[in-house]
Amino acid sequence: MGCAKVVFFTVVLSLAWARGAEETWIRAAPPCDFPAMYNFGDSNSDTGGASATFGPIPPPYGESFFRRPAGRASDGRLIIDFIAEHLGLPHLSSYPDSIGANYRHGANFASGGSTIRRQNESIFENGLSPFSLDIQIAHFDQFKERTSELYCQDKDPYEMNKLPRPREFSRALYTFDIGQNDLAAGFGKLSAVQLKAAIPDIVNQFAMAVTHLYQRGARAFWIHNTGPIGCLPGATFYIQNPKPGFLDKYGCIKAQNNMAIEFNRQLKTQVTKLRRELPRAALIYVDIYSAKYHLIRKAEYYGFMDPSKICCGHHEKNINVWCGQRLIINNTEIFGGSCSSPSTYISWDGVHYSQAANHWIVNNILNGSFSDPPKVIDHACLKHKM
Ligand SMILES: *[C@@H]1O[C@H](CO)[C@@H](O)[C@H](O)[C@H]1NC(C)=O
Ligand SMILES: *[C@@H]1O[C@H](CO)[C@@H](O)[C@H](O)[C@H]1NC(C)=O
Ligand SMILES: *[C@@H]1O[C@H](CO)[C@@H](O)[C@H](O)[C@H]1NC(C)=O
Repeated sequence: MGCAKVVFFTVVLSLAWARGAEETWIRAAPPCDFPAMYNFGDSNSDTGGASATFGPIPPPYGESFFRRPAGRASDGRLIIDFIAEHLGLPHLSSYPDSIGANYRHGANFASGGSTIRRQNESIFENGLSPFSLDIQIAHFDQFKERTSELYCQDKDPYEMNKLPRPREFSRALYTFDIGQNDLAAGFGKLSAVQLKAAIPDIVNQFAMAVTHLYQRGARAFWIHNTGPIGCLPGATFYIQNPKPGFLDKYGCIKAQNNMAIEFNRQLKTQVTKLRRELPRAALIYVDIYSAKYHLIRKAEYYGFMDPSKICCGHHEKNINVWCGQRLIINNTEIFGGSCSSPSTYISWDGVHYSQAANHWIVNNILNGSFSDPPKVIDHACLKHKM
């Protein structure tokens, strides 16, 4: 295959550049030029999976950018969309989406409500997706295998243009944003002690997914840790008269954030361990927690309003109507509609961030300032070892 020559060339090139200090290398090396992106996650990065499988997300979701619901739990683009745009790739089509999908530059396996660990209840009981991370990985395996098969047989150029090039799988960027729902599910049915005791298993299963992809040729991994779940306004609006010390000074539930911090600590340790076990992988750990928490703490400074306010939905006098839902009370219909200026809100619907907040987060993480190692996303690969 012609690609062997290309790889050899890259090795020589990078060695020449690698002579200086690591810092020089980062700046001097050419960008990775990712031809595709494969994403795994929950609603934070779902671009249509849950909509395709369990029914469409209703209006006014999507109103700020797509002008219609676009399978995303936001008023517009998600972090993953902005990452794709930055890398010069199209927005990712969701794997289960059979209508109008194009996988030429990757696919999205994320689905709203997904967890790392398999759950024991049905989605109709607890709202959590059956597409846990191991299932998303199984979907990826199927996707990759079928792509290679079709690529060998099918000669229809129209179909070919919707499929990734088989040899581009190993040069793609593999992105992750998952774990938040493992914590949310735990808050619902486990004690703090039980949930804390489950974290090693959760991050271990995450590491197994990364290792599985590595063994099948994936090399560049961009891993988001989990956000400050206790700061989601949807978690606090049912709480009346919280005890002193229950919330921090930004209105976030301290115990929930501490659990996220513990999850992230163990996730980071796992990623460090993976770096030793998978020597040919570039593993970038992105501290989304700190990026989001920074935005929440400095909301006003960055031009956002009170971060506990929710743009979409109806939440007053103990009546909570979720964004896009309807409720009839005393013969009057209440619609969970949108606010007039979504771009000034951090929270779109109480659980998911607005497009404006997602944009702020992306602008602050892509240059590596929240990453370990602090690599700009365009350089999130080990070119000299590919
Ligand atoms: C599901 O049940 C099995 C068997 O009881 C248990 O080992 C596992 O931890 C449970 N999973 C979750 C996410 O609670
Ligand atoms: C509905 O009507 C009942 C009886 O008139 C009243 O007590 C209640 O406050 C009303 N609820 C709302 C949400 O207006
Ligand atoms: C990254 O970008 C953000 C937002 O533009 C900026 O505030 C920050 O200083 C940058 N960090 C680095 C290391 O370039």
